[in-house]
Amino acid sequence: MNWFKGNIMSTLVVVGTQWGDEGKGKVVHYLSQRADMIVRYQGGNNAGHTIIFENKPFVLHLIPSGILFPKKLCLITNGVVIDPVDLYKEAQLLRSKGLPVDGRLLISEAAHLILPYHKYLDELRERGKIRIGTTRRGIGPAYADKVTRLGIRVIDYLEKDVFVELLDRNLKEKAPLLKKIVSVSALRREIMKDYPRLSRFLAPLVTNTALVLEKAIVKKKKVLFESAQGTLLDLDFGTYPYVTSSNPIAGGACTGAGIGPTKINNVLGVVKAYTTRVGEGPFTTELNDSTGEYLRERGQEFGATTGRPRRCGWFDAVLLRHSIRLNGIDSLVLTKLDCLEGLKALKICTAYKYKGKTITEMPASRKIQKLCTPVYEEMPGFTGSIKGITKFSGLPVNAQAYVKRMEKLIGTRINLISLGRKREEIIVVEKTNVWY
Ligand code: IMO
Ligand code: MG
Repeated sequence: MNWFKGNIMSTLVVVGTQWGDEGKGKVVHYLSQRADMIVRYQGGNNAGHTIIFENKPFVLHLIPSGILFPKKLCLITNGVVIDPVDLYKEAQLLRSKGLPVDGRLLISEAAHLILPYHKYLDELRERGKIRIGTTRRGIGPAYADKVTRLGIRVIDYLEKDVFVELLDRNLKEKAPLLKKIVSVSALRREIMKDYPRLSRFLAPLVTNTALVLEKAIVKKKKVLFESAQGTLLDLDFGTYPYVTSSNPIAGGACTGAGIGPTKINNVLGVVKAYTTRVGEGPFTTELNDSTGEYLRERGQEFGATTGRPRRCGWFDAVLLRHSIRLNGIDSLVLTKLDCLEGLKALKICTAYKYKGKTITEMPASRKIQKLCTPVYEEMPGFTGSIKGITKFSGLPVNAQAYVKRMEKLIGTRINLISLGRKREEIIVVEKTNVWY
């Protein structure tokens, strides 16, 4: 298992293996201590990464959590969609806490912008027949514009004449839809009113981040790629259409940041000890009962971005195997094991049943995803608070057995176990590389 010991592992991608909210924020915050550079490569302010900072929860939506360490350089690269209004607010919030972003945050000139009309379009689409349950941050419409080549990049925004021309082209095209909920001329006025403040704010942060990254990698700097969302929300490999509009998987770091696949040394998956999902879509191990309620309360499973209660259910090994394979995950960090404490029995889904057949791989069919039922293995639960435990052997035997069984079923080593929201509440099962 220790074959990679001794490698110079300078780049690491941290990915969510489920439907987001696995605890990536805390994990990245923990690993950022060892990083020189932290990179956000996809998604936008639909993410909500909760970090405990000076004993208080702190949620970051766009800026990498590495910003909380004074000497780290943070990058928001081309694969991210940026809402400049929200980015400005986040930077102001950090400044008010004595953490100015100046000189420590760089933004790709090629990243696409989310403008107010994208949020209205997101809202409109959610009123339609297929409701995804989006965060209504305009993510899907902004990526759609990128793909249809109507998008406005950061660099376009900074060239005012180019921006105004593109803005008018976009508003003209979208007017028939927008008119249903907003005055298009008022919307244009709002965008132009914000322009001087936002362009002044963005200008000094904007650069060719792919070049900055390349230089850092050549110098063997330690670069951490922070994914948002999770593999099951991936546009290509998630539970389509109930997904987000980008590629959170590790490969997304290549296109989303502008690095070649050979530059990624390690992929760490973040996995929660049970499963949650926000928004619509299939969820085979969902618990609509008192156990689901228990997990929601114990795990404080309420959206960090929208405040929505998260749907909760048992751990699903079928989905994890899918995620591990797609990301090339070589090691996992298990989060929220402490939230299972007090449950009499713990269940793990090992396969699905559909029309009498056993399924061991995640099906692509919407029908099967919706109608299949879980095949469970049951294990005894554990009691007593496990918070504050620093060694694997210090965990109750039933908790140890649960972790071992997970490892066996998904075929991957769990190297770290997180037992609380604070950065230091973590068990390093075995130190294997420079990161963990
Ligand atoms: P973090 O990074 C959990 C979900 C939404 C919705 C779907 C599409 O905090 O783990 P979108 O607004 O992206 O078009 O919504 O994706 N979603 C998330 N769920 N955690 C997230 O991010 C999410 N970001 C988007 O709830 O189902
Ligand atoms: Mg979240």
